[in-house]
Amino acid sequence: MERELALEFVRVTEAAAMAAGRLMGRGDKNGADQAAVDAMRAMLDTVDIQGTVVIGEGEMDEAPMLYIGEKVGAGQGEAVDIAVDPVEGTNLVAKGLPGAIAVMAVAPPGCLFQAPDMYMEKIVSGPAGRGVLDITRPIEENLEALADRLGKPMREITVVVLERERHRQLIDAIRRTGARIRLISDGDVAPAVATGLPDSGIDLVVGIGGAPEGVIAAAAVKCLGGEMQARLYPEDDDDRARMAAMGIEDTGRILQLDDLVRGDDVLYVATAITECYGLPGVRYGAHGVVTTHTVVMRSLTGTIRYIVAEHRRRYDV
Ligand code: FBP
Repeated sequence: MERELALEFVRVTEAAAMAAGRLMGRGDKNGADQAAVDAMRAMLDTVDIQGTVVIGEGEMDEAPMLYIGEKVGAGQGEAVDIAVDPVEGTNLVAKGLPGAIAVMAVAPPGCLFQAPDMYMEKIVSGPAGRGVLDITRPIEENLEALADRLGKPMREITVVVLERERHRQLIDAIRRTGARIRLISDGDVAPAVATGLPDSGIDLVVGIGGAPEGVIAAAAVKCLGGEMQARLYPEDDDDRARMAAMGIEDTGRILQLDDLVRGDDVLYVATAITECYGLPGVRYGAHGVVTTHTVVMRSLTGTIRYIVAEHRRRYDV
């Protein structure tokens, strides 16, 4: 993909973040999501691409905009597949808590795993976990192997886990190893990305979260040279039917990073809505000046750019 596209997509996540950010703390997660969807959709159509949404707001019949299969972009230029999450962490925005981002991943057609909207078991680390982590092994063994590779004692390893009842045994097991844990209420994409950023303080993300979020995180992990393994986690027959409809026969298949994001050409772009692992959230300054902080990564070169933008035009929602 042309490298200029990276900057074009920065405008897209910025627009979504500014729109959602205006509704921070209002207890209205759907409203914040809708504002971001509208802004993202409108901005996407200014980009010279022939884009297809492969991960979005849902199936065509359940989402009027940014639905799976929807064509986006100005209709000329490169054909690309797009995974979007206009608000990753809707509850975080609704409550004004840190960790919410507007995020997207872009790759050549067919390169992003078309994850059904269901749960996925994930284990994610920075480059140290390559050739070391194994999602089929107990968490204790993975942590020991990672600590060894990182050359630090277990008590200095930091693991992020979604605080959910389904993770009770996992959390107990991690605690028994002596590793540090950060329990999060929502939003497992940003910490997964943070594992690959030097000095983020996050070594591992593990547990069951959204499958679409898993693919978006995988795009960044690829750019950062990190490690990620996953396994879809069907809860009922509906989920299994959804998997079958997407041509996934083997429900227990281990998905490696290259299954989640094929090839070497992927972009990851995220704008912080609320403060997120070092990125300040959207700031609404005096006289309509809005400041955003975005990270954009390109796997072909491994370049990571941090873009601070001062927007002087109002994006009314
Ligand atoms: P939203 O879709 O409300 O933004 O939630 C995102 C998220 O917190 C993901 O980051 C995570 O993977 C998933 O939801 C966890 O799902 P659940 O809340 O059902 O445990």
